[in-house]
Amino acid sequence: MSDIADIVSREVPAINRYLESATETLNPMVQPVVRHVLLAGGKRLRPLLTILTARAMGYRADDVYPLACSLEFLHSATLLHDDILDGAKLRRGRESAHVRFGSTHTILAGDVLLALANRLVAEYDNPELTKLLSEALLQTATGEILEIAHLRDVDLPLDTYFSIITGKTAYLIQASCQCGAVLAGASPRLIQAAADLGHHIGVAFQLVDDALDYTSPATVSGKPTGGDLKEGKVTLPLLLYLQGLPFEERRRLAEDFRQDQLSAEDIEYLRGNVVAGGHAEKTREMAGESLAKAQAALAKFPPSPEAELIGDVLAPMLARDK
Ligand code: IPE
Ligand code: IPE
Ligand code: MG
Ligand code: MG
Repeated sequence: MSDIADIVSREVPAINRYLESATETLNPMVQPVVRHVLLAGGKRLRPLLTILTARAMGYRADDVYPLACSLEFLHSATLLHDDILDGAKLRRGRESAHVRFGSTHTILAGDVLLALANRLVAEYDNPELTKLLSEALLQTATGEILEIAHLRDVDLPLDTYFSIITGKTAYLIQASCQCGAVLAGASPRLIQAAADLGHHIGVAFQLVDDALDYTSPATVSGKPTGGDLKEGKVTLPLLLYLQGLPFEERRRLAEDFRQDQLSAEDIEYLRGNVVAGGHAEKTREMAGESLAKAQAALAKFPPSPEAELIGDVLAPMLARDK
């Protein structure tokens, strides 16, 4: 078994056990919604990064799990809320929580998870950790707001697109790495390296997600194919495609998209064109550039088996199909 498979097979069950025991502390009325989203799977990327970063900085104690899992609870809460915001019906291969339980229960279960994450972090009695996670959540929500403000905005500037993905995705992944370093009592220089690592992983991760949205079948990704186009989200593959169109064609398509005038067939045709034009692939290439920056941040870590493992998971992250 490879070292990555080995650590995943050891750590993911430990993460899941902790998630389950913390879920059991919740009121029985919220547990079904929480279990629905947690038991559907998920890659557990954020808690794994917290654990690996803490270990890479020399931290050996077992009390890393509540912190690591608080990141997964925060993440799961944002997924519960995000699927309501996006009107998305599929998550982690099963119907989204709001479809099964209704929006009211799902919003409140998301709030419960945010508070649970807070409570878990408060136990460490370390204001640095509390500040870090609060900032990450604040930035995540702000990124989601910025994205909504630019729905169907085909003139979205590239730097605004990058602000959206940094906010809605990269901050939480940044916090996942950074809080591992803070827990380990690392030096300010190493804490910064961990933050940079997480930031660049986060940007790369969302770029790949935006490419996969165009290419990955729902049966593999567990999310609807072409979801972003259906939801009116302007992401990098579409921006690149529009840039390459002749002026008049671009104007007409942009107008129809802006006015939500495209039929399901039009959207599927557009999705096909974006992929055929190589724009999903180009988006993955740009993710590769962010991963190279992540490698450079990782190079500042002291040598350790865990730092090597983080390095080993970067390339597969680019090639992932879910
Ligand atoms: C989904 O995150 C939301 C994004 C930031 C793209 P993940 O792809 O990490 O979702 P799970 O946890 O594996 O389901
Ligand atoms: C990802 O948003 C970030 C959050 C969930 C906060 P998306 O809307 O792009 O992610 P998916 O595609 O629903 O997982
Ligand atoms: Mg979504
Ligand atoms: Mg969203």
